[in-house]
Amino acid sequence: MKIGVDYYPEQWSEEQWRADAQEMAKAGVKLIRVAEFAWSKLEPSDKQFSFEWLDEVIKTFSQVGIGTVLGIPTNCPPLWMYQQYPDIVRVGPDGNRIQTGIRGHRCINSPVFMGYAKRITEQMVRHFGANPAVVAWQIDNELEAYPCSCEVCKAKFRDWLIDKYDSLENINAAFGTSVWSGEYSDILQIEPPTAYPQAWQNPSLCLDHYRFTCESVAEYAKELALTIRRDAPKAKITTNTWFCENTPDFYKLFEYMDFVSYDNYPTVSIPKDKEEFYSHAFHLDLMRGIKEDKFWIMEQLSGPTGSWAPMSPTPRPEMIKGYSLQAIAHGADNILHFRWKTATKGAEMFWHGLIDHSGVPGRRLFEFSELCKTAAKLSVIDTTEIISEIAILYSPDDAYAMKIQPQVEGMYYLEQLRYFHSAFMHYGANIDVIPPTRDLSHYKLVIAPTMFVYDKAAAENIYRYVINGGTLVMTNRSGVKDSNNNCIPDALPTVFKELIGAEVTEYDPIGSREQTITDFAGNKFTCRRWCDVLNVTTAKAYAQYEDNFYRACPAVTMNRYCSGVAYYVGTVCKSDFYESFAGNLMRQTGIPRLKGLPRGVEVTTRTNGLDDYIFFFNNSEEDATITLPKAMYSIIDSSGKDKLVLKPFEMDIVRK
Ligand code: GAL
Repeated sequence: MKIGVDYYPEQWSEEQWRADAQEMAKAGVKLIRVAEFAWSKLEPSDKQFSFEWLDEVIKTFSQVGIGTVLGIPTNCPPLWMYQQYPDIVRVGPDGNRIQTGIRGHRCINSPVFMGYAKRITEQMVRHFGANPAVVAWQIDNELEAYPCSCEVCKAKFRDWLIDKYDSLENINAAFGTSVWSGEYSDILQIEPPTAYPQAWQNPSLCLDHYRFTCESVAEYAKELALTIRRDAPKAKITTNTWFCENTPDFYKLFEYMDFVSYDNYPTVSIPKDKEEFYSHAFHLDLMRGIKEDKFWIMEQLSGPTGSWAPMSPTPRPEMIKGYSLQAIAHGADNILHFRWKTATKGAEMFWHGLIDHSGVPGRRLFEFSELCKTAAKLSVIDTTEIISEIAILYSPDDAYAMKIQPQVEGMYYLEQLRYFHSAFMHYGANIDVIPPTRDLSHYKLVIAPTMFVYDKAAAENIYRYVINGGTLVMTNRSGVKDSNNNCIPDALPTVFKELIGAEVTEYDPIGSREQTITDFAGNKFTCRRWCDVLNVTTAKAYAQYEDNFYRACPAVTMNRYCSGVAYYVGTVCKSDFYESFAGNLMRQTGIPRLKGLPRGVEVTTRTNGLDDYIFFFNNSEEDATITLPKAMYSIIDSSGKDKLVLKPFEMDIVRK
């Protein structure tokens, strides 16, 4: 368990490196990440490499016990390269090349750029690969599914379509291009759907283009990973990711990486409305689910954020430490804070690091140093893992298809996933967030929200799971689209009708209008966004509508199917419904529940088969008191306790 910082030696003097190394060692830093944007310093002119300064950096820090994560600097090619090859710049939605001199402006499909990218990678690996102080490699930075529409990307996309569909005729059929005279009579007529508004574009084309960009970026990362491996077969390779405008397909992106890295910037302003999600636990569980393994945080919140937008409030006391420990609770094993010192130059000078522009260590650095001390006590959990009995299925295709065609005001793909996730967290359960095609057999409960776009392997997987005795929950907007993102001409949820023992006779997209449902026990809950009016065939009603012309019709159903059970939630409710429903599901499936946890307290368990380590994180602005069922040993302050009293954003870890 190591704590580190992101460091930009190219922005400071050599003298400063030495002072920073001393200061970092004193704070307890064990890792730095460097160089992911430093290409112009590493190759100041074509084929002239300059690595000595980086040797010096690595040496300076390793002498005080700090290892280096080396960034491959391909996010920011030097300007001499653009001057020589203007065509390597990405083309934006307006058809113009985007501005150079910022970052992330290269087209990752450009063969010329790729040649340079591989060359700098190869040179760096040959030079630094055997250096024992280099502990891992980061490829590029926050790779997105970039929608570039340069000529290279266009040609590559057309080839991709022909590979997939064989002929123009098949493409026309798959996309339904007879709508609006969109029939292609020549492959060159196919354009990437990057012009806005996307709502006017063909949805099949949009989804395929997203799939293509996801594959392109994954292929790019893979090529660079292979380049590293060729000369350094034992190198540990990653790339850092996040949720963004063009969120990549995480599963594809990390296929050839050794581990997942996430850039974690949890919110500082806790919303008053309890329906607003703010916990990053969901994102962290998703990051762990990508490879079903522990992951790194490559960038972690350290100060007021800003620059791209006006500044946010500064992290509250305990947040620097608490949010990092929260990530550890969910499976992170190394955490680097972004960044050591706040930049005094460049576009990002108001995205604060641990140390302000003054250079004077302050509250945030002191708290970070506490975190380093705490992490040093956590070696006992190095060998633990997180075992979950509950899985939530996350699909990049479904997320993107819902983005192409938002279904109703207020509805978005992650909402229902997050409602379920929060509800299970409310009972202290571990939760995996995984792809719909993963083996589900060891879960007691699987939540499959919004299986919007048909995927044969995923559909078979969840049928198999229920047939073999699993308990599954599906939701509205499932089975809507075929794999080409066209509507399936059948009663909803089409391919899942048999599984849920019910069909949708009509739906009502009510948006923000609120209605009521009543469950089998007479509990009333508010619903909104969407109402599927259900007709049961073999299912029973779990809850029914109270309003509108579909009053008394089922809103939530339960169906016994082979040896398992499939629930269907036809509407979107508020958190009280999901908590009540999750409680019932956990009781039925025998998943233990912690009752009476104060709101905002998150409980996660990591186990090594012998000992369980239970993390109690107070992710709220109120003090929280938790009475333990028996006295347990806290590894944070090395003492026995039968009660935990946690300040806002404080974590305690006890051994069961
Ligand atoms: C991240 C990015 C960093 C830095 C940080 C703060 O998304 O990877 O390089 O820009 O945001 O803006």
